Amino acid sequence: DEQPGRYKIRSLALAEAGRHQIRLAEHEMPGLMALRDEYRETRPLAGARIAGSLHMTVQTAVLIETLVTLGADVRWASCNIFSTQDEAAAAVVVGPHGSPGDPQGVPVFAWKGETLEEYWACTEQVLVWPGDDGRTGPNMILDDGGDATMLVHLGLQYERAGVVPPDTLPGEPDHTEEMNVVRRLLRRALDADPLRWTEIAAGILGVTEETTTGVHRLYQLAEAGELLFPAINVNDSVTKSKFDNRYGIRHSLPDGINRATDVLVGGKLAFVAGYGDVGKGAAEAFRGQGARVVVSEVDPICALQAAMDGYQVARIEDVLDQADFFITTTGDKDVIRAEHMAAMKDKAVVGNIGHFDNEIDMAGLARVPGVRRTEIKPQVHEWTFPADGDRPERSVIVLSEGRLLNLGNATGHPSFVMSTSFSNQTIAQVELFTDARRPPDERRYGRQVYRLPKVLDEKVARAHLGALGARLTELSPEQARYIGVPVEGPYKPEHYRY
Ligand code: NAI
Repeated sequence: DEQPGRYKIRSLALAEAGRHQIRLAEHEMPGLMALRDEYRETRPLAGARIAGSLHMTVQTAVLIETLVTLGADVRWASCNIFSTQDEAAAAVVVGPHGSPGDPQGVPVFAWKGETLEEYWACTEQVLVWPGDDGRTGPNMILDDGGDATMLVHLGLQYERAGVVPPDTLPGEPDHTEEMNVVRRLLRRALDADPLRWTEIAAGILGVTEETTTGVHRLYQLAEAGELLFPAINVNDSVTKSKFDNRYGIRHSLPDGINRATDVLVGGKLAFVAGYGDVGKGAAEAFRGQGARVVVSEVDPICALQAAMDGYQVARIEDVLDQADFFITTTGDKDVIRAEHMAAMKDKAVVGNIGHFDNEIDMAGLARVPGVRRTEIKPQVHEWTFPADGDRPERSVIVLSEGRLLNLGNATGHPSFVMSTSFSNQTIAQVELFTDARRPPDERRYGRQVYRLPKVLDEKVARAHLGALGARLTELSPEQARYIGVPVEGPYKPEHYRY
């Protein structure tokens, strides 16, 4: 269903199903619900126009409606072509008080199974506020992976230069199909309205970024002196990366594998590339299911951690003919390449749970001579390699076309852990938006990347303890003095690593 400028989703008829799921999710998201209670009256986001680019799931619906409760005007797109839960998108558009015949909620431009063109057009939609000449933009971005932020930066860069670079051809060094889609979109935008990105960029007061990959992009922009507005790195709140990236993956990786393949994990050999936060959760999930786990790392510290946690540390080449599952968690590119896949065990399952699809060389796979692709079901494909020499025909099962499988093949992380992440997002939005309205000489945030102060991190954790029946011990004033921390926190120095 579509109403131009207002929404574009699978079907408004799914709204009721989505609303039931949102209601249950709210019960599992105590941090967000506590923030609603805390700020319902003062509405610190009144006046904020938030452009959101983050997986349009049930949990995200609770985030969106929290931002609205705090006073914000919101538009939303997903940050992945496969991650939208269509019923959640419908419920958000209809809103808690609307009906499919009379939608009263938030504009959403997202559905499961977008093409790349559609994906970027949706991202553009959330950056343009309707109503006047189409030049009013958001004043805040809430990003996951940095695509919305990148579009604004690239748009401005090309607009200043007065030209969008030509598309590259397949095989040229900087060719990616996706970058060409972005360039075409920006070329059309430049032709239609030569000042649009200048005005949109000028209106943005800040961005809050959800994930490791997006944060990485922000630090690169800040180092180059090109970051256009202040940014809060939500990912590196302890209550985000040490929870969502780890415990969320521990839940949603097996969920994605099970829904996609229903292959038994116990007794098998699982290979996990990367032993950062996501890799730790992935390895633990496989072990919990009774698999033997082999980990690869480039960082000696993480490699040593993996070894001390009891995993074999090896290279992918060492286990190609042995492992039953190959999962990448690195945020790096070309981690699983075509030549790897061609050498894997018959029917090995290959998946990526990092952010972008370039962790697995899908383009290279498609170029293997004689390779065949069979759709088993949406987001599950068998790639068959022809017999060569004494190797008979064999195949690998690739999940979500190389894109993040927990959101492509399942529904992403569960609500409780997303409540910790999204509480940080909400607090970060309030923090940046409030700061931007202070007189310039009293502002705390410039065009750099910041993390939330530790007391706020502790506040997020505190909000989630009660629901788990956890009872926190309180320091006595003497104890607090003895270990040198305030009774009410923060309890650790900035450099503490958890
Ligand atoms: P991290 O930086 O903690 O861990 C990544 C690890 O991969 C590092 O230890 C690094 O040394 C290692 N690595 C890099 N290149 C490698 C290579 N070629 N071979 C083996 N290891 C290599 O990052 P984190 O937080 O674990 O995130 C990883 C990715 O997952 C990011 O792209 C992030 O955006 C994404 N992510 C995905 C989620 C999901 O729901 N699917 C949730 C959270 C994060």
